[in-house]
Order: sequence, then structure tokens, then C-alpha cells
Amino acid sequence: MQNFDYMTPTRLLFGKGVIEKLPDVMSQFGKKILLTYGGGSIKKLGLYQKVMELLHDYEIIELSGIQPNPKYDPSVLEGVRLCKEHKVDVILSVGGGSVLDCSKAIAAGACYDGDPWDLISYKVKAKAALPIVDILTLAATGSEYDSGCVISRTETNDKIGYLDPLLYPHTSFLDPTYTFTVSRKQTAAGIADAMNHTIEQYFVADSTLLNDGICESMLRSLMANGRKCLENPEDYTARAEMMLDCTYGCNGILSLGNSFSGWPCHGIEHALSAYYDITHGEGLAIITPRWMKHILSAETLPRFVKYGVNVFGIDASLPQMEIAEKAIEETYKFFESIGIPMHLREVGIDESRIDEMAHHVAVNEGLEHAYAPLKEQDIKEILIASL
Ligand code: NZQ
Ligand code: ZN
Repeated sequence: MQNFDYMTPTRLLFGKGVIEKLPDVMSQFGKKILLTYGGGSIKKLGLYQKVMELLHDYEIIELSGIQPNPKYDPSVLEGVRLCKEHKVDVILSVGGGSVLDCSKAIAAGACYDGDPWDLISYKVKAKAALPIVDILTLAATGSEYDSGCVISRTETNDKIGYLDPLLYPHTSFLDPTYTFTVSRKQTAAGIADAMNHTIEQYFVADSTLLNDGICESMLRSLMANGRKCLENPEDYTARAEMMLDCTYGCNGILSLGNSFSGWPCHGIEHALSAYYDITHGEGLAIITPRWMKHILSAETLPRFVKYGVNVFGIDASLPQMEIAEKAIEETYKFFESIGIPMHLREVGIDESRIDEMAHHVAVNEGLEHAYAPLKEQDIKEILIASL
């Protein structure tokens, strides 16, 4: 087992009606709040109105229109400007992972005198960040319980995962009823994203029985509850379990003591959504089975066998390679069965920029150090197989 240094300082308030605690939580900070949200789903939900009612005695400055795959320009820059101009005390993010990620970048940028891109691109280490409270409305990314944010810079086709312990939310409000209105497409993408977070931490050179068991259970839970959420979007029990599954995704708890995996599918997907602005979870679902096929070898075989037997219930007495191939096929079939387009062409990506994307990933994502090392040619082959 590897050494580790671990702390998640975020307070989780989970369940129906937890929003009533919002005034109490916000009372720990000053009176000026930057309220961040996306394209309007929180108004349809009635959540915007509820927040305004609960925080009627605060000064609220708003940043709306934060897009999926949140953009550095204008959203992060505008948020930083607002925080500095109004001397904001705390950021309240209401929405999905994109709104929260944008809020995290704003929180760091607001406490820095230079260009916030210096922080996101790791040129400068942040010394401080504003506190962040979030009300999550979409189960997927795990941003509510982790220290990362993913920010896109359109003009350079960069989509960077920026991590810093300063970015952990102070408190995350997780009320599964807010996810009832999430569309089929985004629900399925959320299932795929959280499944991939688990897979990225399961396929490693050395792991523990403990971590493997948690990951296998997460994957079974995501598939079973994910299906139920799609069948009945207002199934509270299923939405709740899926939400908690997703929360565990990225804060490292699934891989404590494991060797590092390199998160290869995320490395490749970030280029897809940077170049084509596609939905993150869909890109991952397309890449995952092709990546699996590409890295299947005598060396990786035992991981695939364990995955196939314990996650999909494949007969353990079959020849090992057959189990591994079936496991990859089951992974593909599950994503397809929840309505995810399983080819890049279906999400508007053709072969024209594959060379460029493979090069970008090879240069920026460090996948030559992944569990199964990937060079530029490997990345290109995975992308071509995904077309
Ligand atoms: O903009 P609004 O109107 O709010 O609509 C959103 C958006 O169009 C909508 N939505 C959210 N909650 C809703 C809802 N619609 C109806 N009812 C609700 N309750 O859903 C759409 C997608 O929202 P978005 O926030 O983009 O989705 P998600 O939470 O999947 O976030 C994706 C982003 O997170 C990054 C991804 O790369 C992507 O940019 N990730 C962040 C991670 C992290 N911080 O740890 C890790 C992940 O691997 C991921 O990379
Ligand atoms: Zn992800």
C-alpha cells in the first residue's frame, strides 16, 4: 500500500429539505454573496426563488449564464471581476458541476492580483481562495466533495483540471429532489461520468481488497440506481443513492493507498470537450470501452477478470480472456442501453482533428505515466476506434 496524506474538509448536508439550513451556514461568512448559476434550470426548479427568500437579508451579486464545460472567458473572468469590485465574502454556487467548477476558479482568482489563468495553468500557486458553498442540482462530477475544477479556454483548446486543497467547498447541500428535473441525456451522462471516475481508480497496478470492493459496489449501485432514475426520474431512493455514489467519485477516497492510475479516459475526453464542447459524460462513455480494449494485455488481464466477475457477474470459470472481453462488451452495452450515443460521429466529431487532439493529449496529460502507459500513437488509435 502506498503512503498517503488525506483530508476532505467539506461538510455534506444531505437529504430532502436540507436547504432550510442555508441561512445558518451562510451566517458564518460576511454579508456579500456572489450567487453563481447556469442557464436557468434553477429558476424552473424554484430554487432561485427559495435561495433569495432564505437569504433576503444578504447583499447578493449574481453571475448567471455559466455554460457546461465552463469557460475561462467570460465566466471565470467576469466572476473574479465581480468579487473584486463588490468585495464579496463568499460564493454560493447553485447548479451542476460546471457552475461549481467555475465558482472554484473564481474563488481562487478573486484572491489573486494577476491573471487567474496563472493559477489554473499551475504557473502560480494560489495563496488563498474565497469560501464556497454549493447547492448541487445534478449528480455526476463529485465536484461537491473534491478540490478540483475543470476550466476550458476556447482559443487554445485547453480544458484543464485545476486542483488545490483551497478549492474544497466549505459546505455542499445535496438534496436529491433537485435532481428530479435533470434530463435523460444529462442523467445518463452523469451515470457514465461517475462510473468512469470509479473505473479510473479501479484499473491500477496495485490496489487493496477494500478499495476494489468499494469500487465494485459503486459501479453496481450506479448501474442499478441509474436505470431506476431513467425509468422514474422522481424515484427519491434511486436519485439519492446515485447522488451519493457520484459524491464519492473524485475526492480520492476510492484510491487511498493505491498506486496512481493517470486517469487516462479523462485525459483523452478533456480534448474532446475542449475541441468540440461535447457533454463530458458522453465523451467518457464513448472512450472507456475503446480504451479498455486497447490496454487489455497479459499484464492487465487480472484486473479485467476481477472487474467482469464482480461487477457484471460473469461466470468465473470461463477462460480469463473470454471474461475480460465480455466485461468490455458489457461496459459498452450498459452505456448504450441508457441511451448514450456510442460513436464520436454521433456527437459531431469526425476524423479531421484526431491527429491534433492526440498530440494535444500526449503533450498535456502525462498519460505515458498512466497504469497502462499511452503514447501519442495509442491515443490516436483509441480515438480512431471511437469514431
Ligand atoms: O445551465 P443550467 O440551466 O443550470 O442547465 C444545466 C446544464 O445545461 C442542466 N441542469 C443542471 N441541473 C439541472 C439541470 N437541468 C434540469 N434540472 C436540473 N436540476 O444540466 C446541464 C449540464 O450541467 P453541467 O453542470 O455542465 O453538468 P455536470 O454536473 O455533469 O458538469 C460537467 C462539468 O464538470 C466537469 C466536466 O468536465 C464538465 O465541464 N468535471 C468536473 C469534475 C470535478 N470538479 O471534480 C470532475 C469531472 O470528471 C468532470 O471533468
Ligand atoms: Zn469526469
